[in-house]
Amino acid sequence: MEPFERSPLASAPPAPRASQPLPFASPEQLDPKLQAFLEQASRQLCSWLGSASQRSPLPGLSVLPGVEPSLEGLDPAALLADLQLVMDGAYNPNHPGALAHLDPPPLAASVAADLICAGLNNNLLAEELSPSLTRLERSLTAWLAEQLGLPAGSGGVAASGGTLSNLMALVTARRCRGLATQADAVVLASADAHVSLAKAMAVMGLPAHALHPIPVDREGRLDPVALEQELDQLAQTGTPVIAVVATAGTTVRGAVDPLLPLAEICCKRELWLHVDGAIGAVFGLVAGHRFRVAGLERADSVTINPQKLLGITKTSSLLLLARPQSLAEAFHTGLPYMEPSWGGGHGGETGLQGTRPAEILKLWLGLRQLGLEGLEAVLDGAIQRRRQLAALLEASGRLQLRGGSFHLLAFTPRGLDAAAAEHWSQHTRQRLLQEHLMLSRPWYAGRHHLKAVLGNPHTRSSHLDSLARLVQLSLDELP
Ligand SMILES: Cc1ncc(COP(=O)(O)O)c(C=O)c1O
Repeated sequence: MEPFERSPLASAPPAPRASQPLPFASPEQLDPKLQAFLEQASRQLCSWLGSASQRSPLPGLSVLPGVEPSLEGLDPAALLADLQLVMDGAYNPNHPGALAHLDPPPLAASVAADLICAGLNNNLLAEELSPSLTRLERSLTAWLAEQLGLPAGSGGVAASGGTLSNLMALVTARRCRGLATQADAVVLASADAHVSLAKAMAVMGLPAHALHPIPVDREGRLDPVALEQELDQLAQTGTPVIAVVATAGTTVRGAVDPLLPLAEICCKRELWLHVDGAIGAVFGLVAGHRFRVAGLERADSVTINPQKLLGITKTSSLLLLARPQSLAEAFHTGLPYMEPSWGGGHGGETGLQGTRPAEILKLWLGLRQLGLEGLEAVLDGAIQRRRQLAALLEASGRLQLRGGSFHLLAFTPRGLDAAAAEHWSQHTRQRLLQEHLMLSRPWYAGRHHLKAVLGNPHTRSSHLDSLARLVQLSLDELP
């Protein structure tokens, strides 16, 4: 016996009681208890989704159930009652007035696939832990990259969110450019780029100032002339550049940086171009909308977040690369506790994450449910709602509108100082919330704005009319 082992008598665990079978599905036969539990849970979810418009998008404070497990496990009825308490306090994206953030209602097939994904409990770490799903991820990422116009042989990996996709892109770029140990290397991105880039600097062990913000024009797009000037200066001081990050859809207004000129600059100077298309890259999937992200196909790497406009349940983000092998070059470690890969490489070595759920399943099923026409309809609807709201708000003549070519629209009254704009935005947001219309209140260009994200397919013209009317009431109260 090993010296640290206790005697069998002292350590024998109590045998599970026969009256309480452990709550794992039977491997011998269809388990009626599991089936009843899942059916009841599904009913509960469906009724939560189906009653969304009777509640506010943003619930008030709710009761929380106990957090610690009791001595004896709870039965399904008690579990579902507790679940309901948490559901009662959850953000309500299925409400037609949920317009504040990039968090749309869940697409039906992706909800079902998420359930199956949990039940399969496969692991994208390694091929033998997810044989079909690993292949599905490889094939679907290759198809998506091809749809976006990336070169033959491109592909990528799923990641738990755009922050992680952006981080992996920059780590890969740094490695491919031979700068992995270069402490003075920098990244250039527009001043309106997402905060996840700042987080990436910290994770990569770079100082915050290694992220160089390049000014944007009046439309919120990175200024290529300013970029060239900055690159010239860096060249003069011999400062190495990890990547230029272009944003296809900035977070507040949905601006798209000039991707083609940026691709030209990067090509000429042999720089890595990463496109953060967390918001906008999905528009590159549909021929009729591709012009909005023209140049995306020239990127070395692209972040795309189907969890946003497409409503694939969270999380669903992908990092796509023109040379997907570069992921393995950056993240390969060997997995000494695994059988060798069957040829395509282990998922756990083609990205930062180790154990990873099969997020690809809900994206695949969701896209198959939408079909190409459904995909186009989602994008069309979002653009059409943004146009309608912009026209309604413009009619006031008092608002500074800030949009881009996507489904985001931010606005603030003209002629107010920052303090008055903050007060107006707070007051107007509350007024809208009372009518179950929820906007967000981002800080942008030195003042608070109200922002509408028009990706919610349940939002009808009448909701936008009400929204514009309530905003007008608030404008009328201004001195
Ligand atoms: C442009 C952009 N990039 C990246 C991200 C980060 O994505 P995630 O929240 O999935 O990590 C966001 C989030 O809103 C974003 O707007």
